[in-house]
Amino acid sequence: MSLDRELKVQKIRDGIVIDHLRAGTALKILEMLGITGKEGFIITVAMNVPSQKLGSKDIIKIEGRYLSPSEVSKIALIAPKATLNVIKDYKVERKERLKLPDEIVGIIRCSNPTCITNHEPQVQSKFVVVSREPLKIKCLYCETVMDQDEIARRLS
Ligand code: CTP
Ligand code: ZN
Repeated sequence: MSLDRELKVQKIRDGIVIDHLRAGTALKILEMLGITGKEGFIITVAMNVPSQKLGSKDIIKIEGRYLSPSEVSKIALIAPKATLNVIKDYKVERKERLKLPDEIVGIIRCSNPTCITNHEPQVQSKFVVVSREPLKIKCLYCETVMDQDEIARRLS
């Protein structure tokens, strides 16, 4: 491939690169992080770019913004194969392959409207992972099973 046909996305200086995102999930993740683009920091989003590992993937680069542990867990639920790179002074200071825990507590709302977790504010939602590929989780209270798309819709 000639050089002028390659996609070149500028490296960032300090911030995060969320890489190997399931193709088509970048906008959902920005929404979940509450990022609108009006904050003023530099954001680069690439969608459906070719990837050796995944076929195609999305990438998000954010200058000067970092993630809380609960934000990291939510990203793992939307894009279980994502990699989080923390960049300091142009170098990858830390690389974390996101991993789904076996049990997910309090991040997702159960899709069953009659589930106790949707009616008793003091009862935290709790799900177990019943399948990783494709992702399926089961509510420990009402046994409702939710798939990847349903999970993405019900992050709280
Ligand atoms: N990156 C960046 N700015 C930097 C350093 C890295 O935007 N200053 C990006 C790279 O473009 C890449 C990601 O951060 O998308 C991870 O960088 P690196 O670990 O160097 O790349 P790979 O070895 O390809 O990563 P992996 O093994 O996770 O695929
Ligand atoms: Zn339930």
